[in-house]
Amino acid sequence: MISGKQEKGSTIKVAVLASGRGSNFEALCRGKTGNGRIALLISDNEKAEILQKASASGVEALYMSPGKYRTKFEESEEMEWVRLMRSRGIELVCLAGLMRIIKGPMLEEYNGRILNIHPSLLPSFPGLNAQKQALDYGVRITGCTVHYVNAGVDTGPIILQKTVHVADDDTVETLSGRILQQEHLAYSEAVKLHCGGVLAVDGRRIFKRKI
Ligand code: GRF
Repeated sequence: MISGKQEKGSTIKVAVLASGRGSNFEALCRGKTGNGRIALLISDNEKAEILQKASASGVEALYMSPGKYRTKFEESEEMEWVRLMRSRGIELVCLAGLMRIIKGPMLEEYNGRILNIHPSLLPSFPGLNAQKQALDYGVRITGCTVHYVNAGVDTGPIILQKTVHVADDDTVETLSGRILQQEHLAYSEAVKLHCGGVLAVDGRRIFKRKI
């Protein structure tokens, strides 16, 4: 998997897929994403807060059915999401709180071009409630990770990480809040790197090419 097919300077249309609040989507919209332009938001949750916020921000925002399952897509529906993104010329997909595993047609079509953000320093604390997992474990440093998506859960090659110190009086809420601030910085930075065509992937390791 090698990213960086992009030509230097060309605009890359980015879709954000989200299920809920959408603060990472908002941060991406106002962040420094280089050649990456946030062009589409799709939610699998009709009631997601983010759908209203996205319409107000001028980005095309849609609800699309994920099918009958709770934590994955029905294959035919996943194909519809892919078709829609293809029709809009989407070249990079950013998962931002999408509560579903991507395995089928989307991973095939966008392999090496799907990013995810996770609120821990992977490979520690993958899956749900990462901030609580970190507090319960007693780590003194946690943070967030932006990584390429592969067929596993939070297991793809890591683009970048940002650290957050755990305070003695932290609760899940206070810790999550400080991690979220770092997420907002990290996601734009990672999109900029990907869209700048400077990332080279060698196995699990990602290098910044000198252009
Ligand atoms: C973030 O903590 C992200 O790391 C995780 O889901 C949360 C989404 O938050 N994958 P938001 O919807 O972007 O505010």
